[in-house]
Amino acid sequence: MREKSAICIAGGGSTFTPGIVLMLVENQDRFPISKITLYDNNAERQDKLAEACAIMLKEKAPEIEFNWTTDPETAFTGIDFVMAHIRVGLYAMRELDEKIPLKYGVVGQETCGPGGMAYGMRSIGPVIEILDYMEKYSPNAWMLNYSNPAAIVAEATRRLRPGHRIINICDMPVGLETNMCSIIKDETGRELTRNDMEIRYYGLNHFGWWTQIQDKEGNDLMPILKKHISEMGYANNSPEFQHRDPSWVETYTKAKDVYALDPETVPNTYLKYYLYPDFVVEHSDPNYTRANEVMDGREKTVFGQAKAIVENGTSKGNEFAVGVHASFIVDLACALKFNTHERMLLIVPNEGAIENFDPTAMVEIPCLVGSNGPEPLKIGDIPTFQRGLMTEQVCVEKLVVEAWIEHSYQKMWQAITLSKTVPSGKVAKQILDELIEANKDFWPELK
Ligand code: NAD
Ligand code: LMR
Repeated sequence: MREKSAICIAGGGSTFTPGIVLMLVENQDRFPISKITLYDNNAERQDKLAEACAIMLKEKAPEIEFNWTTDPETAFTGIDFVMAHIRVGLYAMRELDEKIPLKYGVVGQETCGPGGMAYGMRSIGPVIEILDYMEKYSPNAWMLNYSNPAAIVAEATRRLRPGHRIINICDMPVGLETNMCSIIKDETGRELTRNDMEIRYYGLNHFGWWTQIQDKEGNDLMPILKKHISEMGYANNSPEFQHRDPSWVETYTKAKDVYALDPETVPNTYLKYYLYPDFVVEHSDPNYTRANEVMDGREKTVFGQAKAIVENGTSKGNEFAVGVHASFIVDLACALKFNTHERMLLIVPNEGAIENFDPTAMVEIPCLVGSNGPEPLKIGDIPTFQRGLMTEQVCVEKLVVEAWIEHSYQKMWQAITLSKTVPSGKVAKQILDELIEANKDFWPELK
């Protein structure tokens, strides 16, 4: 019988919380749980989801103790893992992150470009606060952080809390690998899961490339994927793809042009924001962005389901959906708890894994994960194109963190100017000044 874990989910009011709770329930055999506590600083938002989760848990796993709270000591005492997915400023601020740059003809996106930097400046302090609570009340616990923007948050924790028990993760490669399985099915009829593939990948968060994808027998799957991606990007016939929101359909399809720039590798979709920013801006509606799509879609759906569960007193007929990233989080928790040495893509300090790249950069690369944490695998040298792009982007991320630490207007202006998504220092300044005004309740005062 495997030892049980006590979990705190930070960002209890997140649209992803019910899916994570359900995923934990469904994985009891490999990752048994004694207790789940939700923690949020917004009691009203959290209550709505927590009351529904309580009903669902009573029906599906009454043996799990379930609580929710806004008190850090209650939340973080006696736990083994914090699973953190906070969104500082909620969707209202995401909307501004997207719409302010777009006013100036610049990409408006949750994690890429000036919007991502604005979100980073909001997220650094609260993520570190949660890490500190965890270390105060449960010093041996691990924090699995998937609060965005993961690249900036990861760099901030490297700088401000080096060596601490936090692992930064992202579901984007997991989602794309699942999608690759659908492509292989479309192209060959063969049914694979993500875990049947052996991959090599390197990059920064939301900014990377696959260099190898093969099955467990060593057969190269790259030629099938490359042919498909060169013709139609990541678009495919799976129900999962067909039900994607319009903005995601466009992102998956645009991967065709991202791929064309380097046919040696298979790209992460978010590279479109850096390599084709003009296309992205032309295809954005400055009055209705991804934040609006999510508020009208996932947020309404999840909170609507929760309301129905509470009103009906049962979760029957209102099952929450489990996202792709949920299983990845359980895999990671299992690897840490049971020393499985599973191979996973994580955001870790480079420290020589990519030889011809900044050793202090936070990179996304395969690691073996055991009870002592991640051991990064060696990547070797990367080509000039990728090294150039990554060098620019990692400096943007470092400048944002320096701006936050030093309260430096100059560094934030440099960061925005340096981003590949921004045309000039003039436009960067206009965007920055408007972002400062919009974020005055969240950012440190820049001098
Ligand atoms: P959401 O707005 O629905 O939920 C976020 C919750 O965090 C809210 O309830 C909010 O009150 C809470 N929160 C904000 N600041 C807090 C603080 N200081 N302390 C405690 N709680 C706080 O957002 P969402 O769309 O569900 O996304 C949540 C996060 O997960 C985002 O950062 C999103 O980008 C991220 N995400 C990451 C991945 C990944 O794989 N890396 C995948 C999906 C979503
Ligand atoms: C997206 O825009 O799809 C991601 O940021 C996650 C989400 O749905 O909010």
